[in-house]
Amino acid sequence: MKCNKLVDVGRRQFLRGGVMSAAGAAAATIVAPTAAAAQSLARVDYPSNRLANLSDLKLNEPMDIAYPDEGSPGVLLKLGSAVEGGVGPEGDIVAFSVLCPHKGWPLSYNAGDKTLNCPGHFSRFDCEAGGQQTWGHATQNLPQFALRVDDAGDIFAEGVDELIYGRLSNVL
Ligand code: FES
Repeated sequence: MKCNKLVDVGRRQFLRGGVMSAAGAAAATIVAPTAAAAQSLARVDYPSNRLANLSDLKLNEPMDIAYPDEGSPGVLLKLGSAVEGGVGPEGDIVAFSVLCPHKGWPLSYNAGDKTLNCPGHFSRFDCEAGGQQTWGHATQNLPQFALRVDDAGDIFAEGVDELIYGRLSNVL
């Protein structure tokens, strides 16, 4: 008899715990919109930086650039055929960070297959596919810079689609 009462007490405590868990989950649901609001505040305004002019570019020859600041090296490329994110008259001009998303080694351009390649642990990124990783240790695609070309043919970078290696925010 005594033993059964103890079992009953145990059940009641278990049920009370369940109610508390449900209350906790409800509280978390109420808190969620606040967290979303805080996230939207983390959005950054990108600078519009002139990188080069159309006349400066040579077909399939990388030009060194930096964006959104001098601490973030990148490359500007004219690939020769329209590609994802490409700008200019042929839609073939793109720009990427050259810091490997894995551990930040500097990438080098292979004109043969239009990829950026990491000497650290051999990740490869396809410049004709928006910087998509095709091989290696990295766990994200290569950050691509959003470009705009004005009427004078000047090429501007105005955004980045992935987090640049080593940063908590692309704009410091
Ligand atoms: Fe590039 Fe590791 S640093 S794959």
